[in-house]
Amino acid sequence: MRDARSEMPPLERLLVTGGCGFIGSHFVRLALRRPRTRLVVNLDALTYAGNPENLRDVEGDPRYRFAKGSVCDAERVDALVREGVDAIVHFAAESHVDRSLYGPVDFVRTNLEGTSVLLEAARRAGLRRFLQVSTDEVYGSLPREGRFRETTPLHPNNPYSTTKAAADLMVGAYVRTFGIDAVVTRSSNNYGPHQHPEKFIPLFISNALQDKPCPLYGDGMHVRDWLHVEDNARGIWAALAKGKGGRVYNLGGGNERPNLEVARAILRLLRKPESLVAFVQDRPGHDRRYAIDCSRARRDLGWTPRVSFERGLRDTVAWYRANPGWVERVRSGAYREYYARQYGDALRAAAGMPAASRETTPVRRRRT
Ligand code: TYD
Repeated sequence: MRDARSEMPPLERLLVTGGCGFIGSHFVRLALRRPRTRLVVNLDALTYAGNPENLRDVEGDPRYRFAKGSVCDAERVDALVREGVDAIVHFAAESHVDRSLYGPVDFVRTNLEGTSVLLEAARRAGLRRFLQVSTDEVYGSLPREGRFRETTPLHPNNPYSTTKAAADLMVGAYVRTFGIDAVVTRSSNNYGPHQHPEKFIPLFISNALQDKPCPLYGDGMHVRDWLHVEDNARGIWAALAKGKGGRVYNLGGGNERPNLEVARAILRLLRKPESLVAFVQDRPGHDRRYAIDCSRARRDLGWTPRVSFERGLRDTVAWYRANPGWVERVRSGAYREYYARQYGDALRAAAGMPAASRETTPVRRRRT
């Protein structure tokens, strides 16, 4: 296992998985901005969360290559690795907690099996580095005080975070058992342009832009620590280039906010009324608070987040306002079914209307 990054020649040829997704696409763009990068192969299955539009601007770059396929397809992964890559940077994942409540097995397949297939390919090919992109959700929920450190025991509470924790443990097993050189990053909640509107911030922005109700779970006092996606991409790059093999690096924005405060900030920026906030039934197993201690990344990687939440949120709101076509295309088709299942009855109940489906979702109606 290697630990002195400065002695390692640069990683010039990367296999990125899930590069058409939100965080992956920001990372691919960053990698192609680095002069030492000679090849980025983007393996993406283009499921609902992968959107080729996210990388239109780099399609003409001769160092970039798109490969449609699943991380669970071992033959395909092996073939791409054999083309000669130095490292795998693994983003591809089912990542939405609410969806994991409806289809946990899909999460096991993509997140655990997919990671295992990639680890096997990395081991067989003797790749110089494997980077696992993970989440602070693997640590579970915090009380009012305290922050997640890399040594905090894993305590995932929902199917999504449990499959991510399992995948991280598998990475650790490959480090210890087979001696592969792998690094894990665990970031707090990301936000920024190109995020799928199933997630909190883009959902609230895009609903508010259309004067639709914004469904806030429970009492709205759940706390998340917001990290701008470009800061996360820089942190992942730093961990890839300078991280110590076998280590985990927490990446956080230092922007802890209750959801209600974020909702109000979005509505203020859009000059929309607070009455658009609709308090709906809480998510089952909803983690109360996340907060992250990223002193290791600051110290060992020289990484620090640069985008303030105020500026990042303002720019994100401006991006969604300027790109209604992107949102419309993402929201068409299967997303409509998901939205109706996830929010239909809850929003109807919040508005004092009867449920459309037989299973009535009880909600509490509150004023902000
Ligand atoms: P989300 O973007 O789903 O990320 P995560 O669950 O991984 O933290 O949600 C962020 C927070 O916003 C979380 O506390 C749940 C809350 N939330 C709502 O209140 N309403 C919503 O419709 C969604 C999607 C999330």
